[in-house]
Amino acid sequence: MKRQSFISGVGYNLPDKIMRNEELSNYMDTSDEWISERSGIKERRVVEKLKESGVGPAELSIPAVQNALDRANLNKEDIDLIIFSTAMPDYFLPGSGCLLQEKMGFPMIGALDIRVQCAGFIYGLSVADQFIKSGTYDNVLLVCSEVQSTTIDYSNRGRDVAVLFGDGAGAVVVSATSESKGILSHHLHSEGKYAKELWIETPSAQMYPRLTNELVDEGRHHLKMNGREVFKQAVKRFPEVILECLNHNNIDAEEIDLFLPHQANIRINNMVQKKLGLRDDQVFNNIQKYGNTTSATIPILLGEAYESGRIKEGNLVLMAAFGSGFTWGASLMRW
Ligand code: COA
Repeated sequence: MKRQSFISGVGYNLPDKIMRNEELSNYMDTSDEWISERSGIKERRVVEKLKESGVGPAELSIPAVQNALDRANLNKEDIDLIIFSTAMPDYFLPGSGCLLQEKMGFPMIGALDIRVQCAGFIYGLSVADQFIKSGTYDNVLLVCSEVQSTTIDYSNRGRDVAVLFGDGAGAVVVSATSESKGILSHHLHSEGKYAKELWIETPSAQMYPRLTNELVDEGRHHLKMNGREVFKQAVKRFPEVILECLNHNNIDAEEIDLFLPHQANIRINNMVQKKLGLRDDQVFNNIQKYGNTTSATIPILLGEAYESGRIKEGNLVLMAAFGSGFTWGASLMRW
């Protein structure tokens, strides 16, 4: 039987602090009505913001990783490689994967950080899949963790972005199997001409010094977004890459048991669902509770789908994401 890779364990972790739309309206001119109508979001989770020694993505991911390991019935010693996806690394360098290796006491295995923003889970899964299918490794840990609240401008200047994003972490263990299940295909894309439509400009290696008080005063260290352009491209690229994936596997949209879309805006997801003709029972969203947690959205969704019994053995699961870069992609798997 052919060597396949499958998700043997999934876990997630969210900070305890809940920031409701009503709270945001204390800091900027916004309202629960505007945010709910435009994005579907009611609340998001945020870490406590401390000047020193706060929680970064490596720390936030620890319970998610432990959960994924427990569900996979594996120990840290069984893991051959850590892939860490984050758009918001603890430091410019070294990578958050190295920090996690030390914090959790993993053996001295490889730790590879990837920076593909919202598409990080899809890209990371494709990398894990290659290591497993080639026979190089048996168990790869894929962690997606984002602490975004520390880059958000919680003032009128940043209100278009501030209301959308939240903190969170998800993790999966990708393992080898000879059964006929697991990851079927990946479809990855990028279009760098849109790099500045969703970006954090500084600190930048193009500047000397990389960060100045002036840059901070101008707010150029905050996450910035051209919401309309992102929206326009997202509703085009999602259906495109999903159809590419379905055609590649010779599958009709109605055969999908569960679609786990990236959680950026419920209006985007509703439009994609409509374009593909998917029924409500085929699609799972949780943006209402967590906002956009960038690369962590899909593993968090997967974790909740697993816990609630929404995902069952043998189910055909489609995942797709789009974000900064622009980068986007889709994966299909048999659970
Ligand atoms: N509260 C109230 N008003 C706000 C606001 C907020 N938080 N943010 C922006 N506005 C205002 C704007 O200033 C604008 O005012 P104006 O008409 O006087 O200029 C008005 O609301 C409409 O803004 P617009 O940008 O047209 O709204 P929109 O319907 O496009 O919705 C987004 C804005 C950001 C919700 C939407 O563009 C979006 O979701 N884009 C994609 C985001 C995304 O997916 N990002 C992540 C990708 S991974």
